Amino acid sequence: MTVNEVIQRGAEFLQRHGVDSPRLHSELLLAHVLKVPRLQLYLNHDRPVAEPELSVVRALVQRRAQREPLQHLVGSTSFCGLELTVSPAALIPRPETETLVELAVAALKRYGAPEPGLLDFGTGTGCVAVALAAQCPTACIHALDVSEAALALARANAERHGFIGRIRFHHGDGFRALPTGLRFDLLVSNPPYIPTADIATLQPEVRDFDPVSALDGGADGLDFYRLLAREAPSWLNPGGGLLAEFGDGQAEAIERLFTDAGWTRAALHRDLDGRWRVVEAWRTA
Ligand SMILES: C[S@@+](CC[C@H](N)C(=O)[O-])C[C@H]1O[C@@H](n2cnc3c(N)ncnc32)[C@H](O)[C@@H]1O
Repeated sequence: MTVNEVIQRGAEFLQRHGVDSPRLHSELLLAHVLKVPRLQLYLNHDRPVAEPELSVVRALVQRRAQREPLQHLVGSTSFCGLELTVSPAALIPRPETETLVELAVAALKRYGAPEPGLLDFGTGTGCVAVALAAQCPTACIHALDVSEAALALARANAERHGFIGRIRFHHGDGFRALPTGLRFDLLVSNPPYIPTADIATLQPEVRDFDPVSALDGGADGLDFYRLLAREAPSWLNPGGGLLAEFGDGQAEAIERLFTDAGWTRAALHRDLDGRWRVVEAWRTA
């Protein structure tokens, strides 16, 4: 079979199994197996695909048809321009989380501390911590997670990009993961925010392959914002701030939650799709 035929068959198979963007995914899987950039497939569309490669690509297309995420199959994803290793140990970084990173970089510039202390609460793959290490060269970064497997992946990603010496990783449940006495200028978090009962309704790629501990935000999805609103101030320097991502339909409740908890300013930001996505709140100076 030629490159073109393999792509075509794969795309038809994925379409029959209800996979979004079936042709793109068929192309990306073949490109991954042939170890070439996707666009190179177009230049070689008549090239025959040898049997060993064909059987590998067939197996991957079948797994994708079972709704295993493309990123797990190819083992990586791009986040803030960095290629990150992904695995079932942690949530696959989402494009909307890049907004959280952009807002954090802008907030740190305004804040103006020469060596700001940052905490990434619920680091997962380490995507936010690693992207901030890349974009804020003088920041002193800490990252915590309740999942040891996620932390191992986050460490591997920090290592992959040369930031292992810049990020301190902590294992444990919420702020209990941290040694006492630490204080930060900015806390960033993309916490679990799906209401427990909604998890069963998510698309299979998320429901069956992202760790449930990365999704489950409690009965109304807001457990972690309550925790952050209540406990984060004692981990922040006076005048320090917090940026946290949240889900669709949660904006009003979250803004109220931070305002009621006595944060001086609580404001909301939209993502690139125009959806309310991030809450920003500051402690009194
Ligand atoms: C939505 S994921 C976000 C991962 C990553 N920051 C990102 O944006 O892709 C939430 C993360 O919070 C972690 N987490 C869940 N409960 C936690 C807890 N009680 N204490 C610390 N981390 C927790 C999960 O293990 C998961 O890695």
